Amino acid sequence: MANRKRVFDLLRTIDVASCRCPAHGNRGNIQVSNATPQKDYAFEIKCSTVRYGLGVTREVGHDLVNMDAKNVCVVTDPNVVNLQPLKTTLDSLTKTGVNYKVYDKVRVEPTDTSFKEAIAFAKANDFDSYVAVGGGSVMDTAKAANLYACDPEADFLDYVNADIGKGKPIEVPLKPMIAIPTTSGTGSETTGTSIFDYEELHTKTGISHSALRPILALIDPLHTLTMPEKVTKYSGFDIFCHALESFTAVPFTERGPAPANPSLRPTYQGSNPISDVWARFCLQVLQKYFKRSVQNPDDVEARSNMHLASTMAGVGIGNAGVHLCHGLAYPIAGHVKNFVPADNVYGSAPIIPHGLSVVMTAPAVFRFTAPSDPDKHIEAAGILGANTTGVKQADAGKLLSDTILQYMDYMKIENGLKTLGYTSEDIPDLVKGALPQKRLLALTPLEQSKEDLSKLLEDSLTVY
Ligand SMILES: NC(=O)c1ccc[n+]([C@@H]2O[C@H](COP(=O)([O-])OP(=O)(O)OC[C@H]3O[C@@H](n4cnc5c(N)ncnc54)[C@H](O)[C@@H]3O)[C@@H](O)[C@H]2O)c1
Ligand SMILES: [Fe+2]
Repeated sequence: MANRKRVFDLLRTIDVASCRCPAHGNRGNIQVSNATPQKDYAFEIKCSTVRYGLGVTREVGHDLVNMDAKNVCVVTDPNVVNLQPLKTTLDSLTKTGVNYKVYDKVRVEPTDTSFKEAIAFAKANDFDSYVAVGGGSVMDTAKAANLYACDPEADFLDYVNADIGKGKPIEVPLKPMIAIPTTSGTGSETTGTSIFDYEELHTKTGISHSALRPILALIDPLHTLTMPEKVTKYSGFDIFCHALESFTAVPFTERGPAPANPSLRPTYQGSNPISDVWARFCLQVLQKYFKRSVQNPDDVEARSNMHLASTMAGVGIGNAGVHLCHGLAYPIAGHVKNFVPADNVYGSAPIIPHGLSVVMTAPAVFRFTAPSDPDKHIEAAGILGANTTGVKQADAGKLLSDTILQYMDYMKIENGLKTLGYTSEDIPDLVKGALPQKRLLALTPLEQSKEDLSKLLEDSLTVY
């Protein structure tokens, strides 16, 4: 046994001392067979089939016929139901003779109550497939409706992430789901995640399992041309944080223990060489097209690229995961007081759109996480357009934070949590809501205390 340990230690030493260039520098744990790995040594990339192209929605009817679908649940929200993406979808279903029913009552930023309404609709009809047409709110609602209709006896909290729910793995077969995103942000079309606001605790949480992943994502940039400016910028900052958080998440080799059975490897596995490729791609696209896509809704090139970046970041987060910006965003959104985004594009009820709640703490979060891997933080800032010449490792956090702030300033993003209605007195409640987000906190590349979380929120009260 002692010998085995010595060999294992030696191999780790060789690994640590080995080349760190991008081609060979993956910090892979070298595992001795049969040793019980304390840390994980493997990662896997799962993804929906993705079909991308201007106008590709017209193919959805054929896909359903190919799947032998006879009774389709089309899920959308009260706004998208009146827009071209839904019309094109229904035209395609009608032309191919596919039978369907539309559920158009999805709540923007869904809650457990709104999920349950969609679940009741799904249970009352014997659907054999689902098509979600809308943003993250719609896609996440469709995933939940499908799950609980396929396991009608399950209690709602059974599948909800621990510790809020029981985190039960999905073992029942689900019906196939096709996702047609109409925002450029969440990447939910490729993820096995469904997020909702758990009203009792005033925080968001979710259901996370690869079985929830849509079987097909139809990425049709035409749909994004009607996105209002606010939706474009808030959902754009969701992509922004997905890319930055998955890129800087704890490396998969630092997360442990390795699962006894590969099916138990978590959905969010930590940063890895493949998700890093997606993240770098997204950061490049954001640098080139984010501002253009907000400035000019008719800029098809910019909006098309942002739509692709959203899916790419989804593949990144769907496997690597996200960390603190999202962990803190969930109570920020859940405790909303009176904030209503201008122009009523999100409706007239108080709501903090997901991308806004996420980016609020980003400048503080990346100042905090930079010491975990200064080079990666500098690299990210560089891709986003910062001048990295001569930047010292000690300044990595400031560089990335300042770069994020420039984007926020340019997009006229609200100046910190104060503008969303929060004061220092709210911070203990926000920390309390962040602590159950164990899955996300564990992916943060540095351990964080309650005091650290308080300080990050305090630093985010005013950001400019
Ligand atoms: N499942 C995941 O992996 C994942 C990841 C990130 C975020 N989310 C969740 O997704 C939700 C946010 O989704 P979102 O940012 O895509 O926005 P959304 O679905 O909440 O939609 C925002 C608003 O834009 C409108 N809209 C959507 N598409 C439009 C279009 N093409 N033209 C005009 N208006 C349009 C909607 O009607 C709505 O009013 C949050 O609940 C968030 O927590 C999920
Ligand atoms: Fe997100």
